[in-house]
Amino acid sequence: MVDVRSALAPRAHESVANEGARPLIEVRALAKIYHVGVETIHALRGLDLSIGRNEMVAIMGSSGSGKSTLMNMLGCLDRPTSGAYLLNGRDVSRMGATELARVRNEEIGFVFQSFELLPRQTALENVELPLVYAQGAWRGRRARALAALERVGLADRVHHRPNQLSGGQRQRVAIARAILNKPSILLADEPTGNLDSATTIEILSLFRQLHAEGQTVIIVTHENEVAAHCQRVVRLRDGRVLSDLAVSDDIAGRVVAESPVAVSAMSGAHQGGGA
Ligand SMILES: Nc1ncnc2c1ncn2[C@@H]1O[C@H](COP(=O)(O)OP(=O)(O)OP(=O)(O)O)[C@@H](O)[C@H]1O
Ligand SMILES: [Mg+2]
Repeated sequence: MVDVRSALAPRAHESVANEGARPLIEVRALAKIYHVGVETIHALRGLDLSIGRNEMVAIMGSSGSGKSTLMNMLGCLDRPTSGAYLLNGRDVSRMGATELARVRNEEIGFVFQSFELLPRQTALENVELPLVYAQGAWRGRRARALAALERVGLADRVHHRPNQLSGGQRQRVAIARAILNKPSILLADEPTGNLDSATTIEILSLFRQLHAEGQTVIIVTHENEVAAHCQRVVRLRDGRVLSDLAVSDDIAGRVVAESPVAVSAMSGAHQGGGA
């Protein structure tokens, strides 16, 4: 059963008290139905979830459990069939297309498993050009793109094209692009799915640094070792929340025997989590 209240109550109360406001993300009875031909697919079936500012959350669950569908909703790429999604207290499910695009541009940063970089553009151009064009926000964009690339450790690769970069460097470019507009939420859907284990650790350390600087981070992953870098693990099954626990309660027992690296990372996450 969902046990988030007991697991996370102190932190949730703190963040509410600090902000004097509600959680950053509040999802209630969220449902998403797809129709393909005569088939009806219930991708989300009444999902409830709250995420506070500056949390670092892993979303897990088997293939088809609704993780990417949930990320698309949280990222305002798509609208739920029913239910409510309050972002910063504003109901996203009622917004029109223009408003939705504006929220997406200003509040959301996306990172994908396959990087989604434009192959003929340099790292700098990839960061300058948002996936969805922000209205009128060109002034100072180059300087911000350079700063973002520097932030992810790629100051010396700005004129390289994706095929001249390693997988980890490509994902760093994608992260630079995602943080360009200083989004409220950084959403990453299996960001280390195409990376080897050493590069995975590098990319996760980068997410953790961003989190330590105040960024809210939500990462979809199939791997406990990746989730161990987060503070909280939400597991989905059949479009609903199966469990929602602090990482120490969810993962500790599962990875101790398998991966000393993940366990040491996990204790680091506890120490640095509230920074
Ligand atoms: N655009 C779509 N049209 C129709 N059905 C879809 C669409 N997107 C997802 N689905 C269906 O919704 C369900 C949830 O899919 P989703 O992509 O959210 O799963 P997931 O948890 O991300 O899986 P994976 O781990 O394989 O990425 C699946 O049954 C999928 O086939
Ligand atoms: Mg998916």
